[in-house]
Order: sequence, then structure tokens, then C-alpha cells
Amino acid sequence: MNIIKVKNYRELSYLGAKKIADQVAENPYSVLGLATGATPEGIYQHLASEYQKGTLDFSQCSSVNLDEYKGLSREDEQSYYHYMKQHLFSKINLPEERIYFPDALAKDAQEECRRYDEDIEKLGGVDLQLLGIGRNGHIGFNEPGDFFPAATHCVSLSQSTLDANAKYFPSKEEMPKEAYTVGIGVIMKAKKILLVANGESKREALRRTIFGKVTPQTPASILQFHPNVTIIGDEEALSFWND
Ligand code: GLP
Repeated sequence: MNIIKVKNYRELSYLGAKKIADQVAENPYSVLGLATGATPEGIYQHLASEYQKGTLDFSQCSSVNLDEYKGLSREDEQSYYHYMKQHLFSKINLPEERIYFPDALAKDAQEECRRYDEDIEKLGGVDLQLLGIGRNGHIGFNEPGDFFPAATHCVSLSQSTLDANAKYFPSKEEMPKEAYTVGIGVIMKAKKILLVANGESKREALRRTIFGKVTPQTPASILQFHPNVTIIGDEEALSFWND
């Protein structure tokens, strides 16, 4: 693992965006695995402004998102699709037909999971996967459990995740309790992984990810087995790390 400790969120966002921009410059046909949450917002802001300056071109790229709340339409303001539109897709030239998302309204959830994995497979897999991390060590919506689920699947969200994400919903009752997520196997097949984390609330999850034993109780710990992982964390999240 390549661990980079930066001073603050501003530096994390700048460096994270630079890694993605370098990937797109190196391979204009890159398949980008994208994440939602508060952490990547700054990265998306930088990428949008690089595009607007004319230094970045997404016209040949594809994007595959990690997860989506089950039952929310794309128009729903709390959906991750809406988040991506708002923070990135509406500001860059990534063609709509190359934006991949689980269909959260699909009638047959199992079939939708299979279809999503097939789409990713057809794209040739993900070149660079951006990840945040949950306070309980989840990646995507792969919650702590007894095994590492390989394929895209539906999950019941853990209490810790429901509590952390409730702030985005008008009330706790309106928050979906289930979500689609790509599996750990899909994430591990990405050629490169970039995980970003800031703030004290992520410290324990990061420490277990980097130094803990590899266990599905800390889903991100599996990244210890990936050959090309970069973790960018700020001073608070990586306070245990001396470089
Ligand atoms: C959510 C998302 C994850 C994200 C994580 C951390 O539950 N499903 O993909 O990485 O929580 O979010 P944040 O960056 O807001 O802390």
C-alpha cells in the first residue's frame, strides 16, 4: 500500500483529483470507478474545474458507480445518481451513455445485480477505483459481515451507516434501509485503487485497514491484498501513521 499523509482536506482533494486526472491523461479511454459521500466532493470540484479550464477531457471515459440506495429514482435528490450529476457529471463532458449505475428501481434485484456485473465485465473492468471508507470500515456499501461478497448485491445497511448518512435525508424514516453495491470482488479486480479519508472519525477504520488483520469485519482490510492501492488521508485520519 502506498500511504500518503496530507495536511488537510484541501490537499487531499487536490492530490486525489490529480491522481484521477493523471489516469485520464494516460488513458483517455479509462473506466473510472466512482464513489459518493462527503469525502470525494472536493476531488470532483477540482476535476470539474480542470475540465472547464480545458486541461481535462472525459469524452472517451466511462464511469461505473459503486453503489445506490435501493428504491430511489435517479431524480430523487438523495439518490447517488443525483449526487453524481450535481457534483460532477453535469460539469464535465462524460457522455451520458457511458455513465453506469445500478437501476435502483429494477423489479428483479438479483437480475439487476447480475446485469451490472455483466456491464462492468463488458467494459473490461475498472481502471481506477476511487473509494471512501465508512466509519465501520465499509467500502461501497459492503458492510462488516462474515464473508467478503464477491459480486454486486443488495445489502441491509448497518446501524452505523444509517446513523452516518441520516443527515442527507429529511428524516430517518425516509432513508432507504437497503442498497445496491458492487461486491468486494469487483473492487479488487480494479487495476488501481485510490482510497481517500479525512477526519478523526475515520482514523480507527483506516488503522484497521492498514494494520489490522484481513477480515470481513473490516471490509476495507482486503485492500492489503491488492497490488496497487494508494491511500490518501489527512493528518487526523492518519495520525497513527509516521512517514
Ligand atoms: C457511504 C458510501 C460510501 C462512502 C462512505 C463514506 O455510505 N456508500 O461509498 O465511502 O459512506 O462517506 P463519507 O465520505 O461521507 O464519510
